[in-house]
Amino acid sequence: MNFNDYDKYAEYEEQFDPMRYDRQARRKRKPKPVHMPKKSSMEVIEEVAETVGLEGGFQTTYQPGIFEEGWLLESLRTFYTQALIQDVLALVKGGKEANVYRCEGNPAVTDELIAAKVYRPRMFRNLRNDKLYREGRPILKSNGKAVKKTDHRLMRALGKKSSLGVQAAHTSWLMYEYTTLQKLHRAGAAVPKPLAVGDNTILMGYCGDRHEAAHTLNEIDLQPDEAQALFQEVMRNIELMLRLEVIHGDLSAYNILYWQGEITLIDFPQVTDPTVNPSAAVILERDITRVCQYFAEQGVTCDAQAIFHELWSRWGTNIELPSEE
Ligand SMILES: Nc1ncnc2c1ncn2[C@@H]1O[C@H](COP(=O)(O)OP(=O)(O)O)[C@@H](O)[C@H]1O
Ligand SMILES: [Mg+2]
Repeated sequence: MNFNDYDKYAEYEEQFDPMRYDRQARRKRKPKPVHMPKKSSMEVIEEVAETVGLEGGFQTTYQPGIFEEGWLLESLRTFYTQALIQDVLALVKGGKEANVYRCEGNPAVTDELIAAKVYRPRMFRNLRNDKLYREGRPILKSNGKAVKKTDHRLMRALGKKSSLGVQAAHTSWLMYEYTTLQKLHRAGAAVPKPLAVGDNTILMGYCGDRHEAAHTLNEIDLQPDEAQALFQEVMRNIELMLRLEVIHGDLSAYNILYWQGEITLIDFPQVTDPTVNPSAAVILERDITRVCQYFAEQGVTCDAQAIFHELWSRWGTNIELPSEE
């Protein structure tokens, strides 16, 4: 995937841009300099369809929108070639930063159903304001290893936000999500099984069946007994993660899936390491507070502050607590 190709997907991206419905906001938006000679959208679509679609033999049951097609096929093609997936069945959800698709896996190699999280082009163009999470966090390369501080060329590129630097930042963002899934899954956390990673896509275990994907907890009301048990399970996971020096960083009922009585934690790109990030306590406290908010609504008695303090005193290693009022 060529990371300089984003302009090709401008129209696709527009669909997810709330400003497009707001003419005034749109007018106020600063025009962006155009770096490439513009191709018409039809030219682009034809080009992409030729190289990755029909000619490549990758036909999908799911019929992507006209602007979605190029990005989707280009993102998933490598997994198709590797015989990891054989079809795309449906769009599960367009989230904040990524679209998640239900794919037919190759049962000889992987699972029958697979979730493909395909980050959208915009995600790479302006990485969201993730400074808080990145504090102290090294940049990861596509092999999952950290870039050395002595790699001056890359360090300079990152500082200058050159295309090499921007690309390295994208790879890092994706690799944090992937390597965290690996680490947590290995340790027995309730997370999807990571299966493969590409330039802007993660393949992982799918929660749901052929007809329906798992709901996120915020969409669901639980029975009191179940609520209590699932709350304990979320807390077990938060503590297990802390033991592994991982804080989710965006945990809430929106990033916990529910399927047939079981929960699965998802969406890990902004994970933070409590041993290096000076804001770790604040981030953990927020995760716990948000989880408790949901479970309190479901009738569970829980005191987010007390839980946070207890966990932090046990696992918060070398970082000072935020001052108490
Ligand atoms: N492994 C999975 N199985 C089934 N559905 C999933 C899976 N992962 C994500 N989803 C669905 O896709 C949505 C977006 O995924 P998420 O990782 O939260 O990305 P975003 O950063 O866009 O919020 C989720 O809210 C959930 O509905
Ligand atoms: Mg999410």
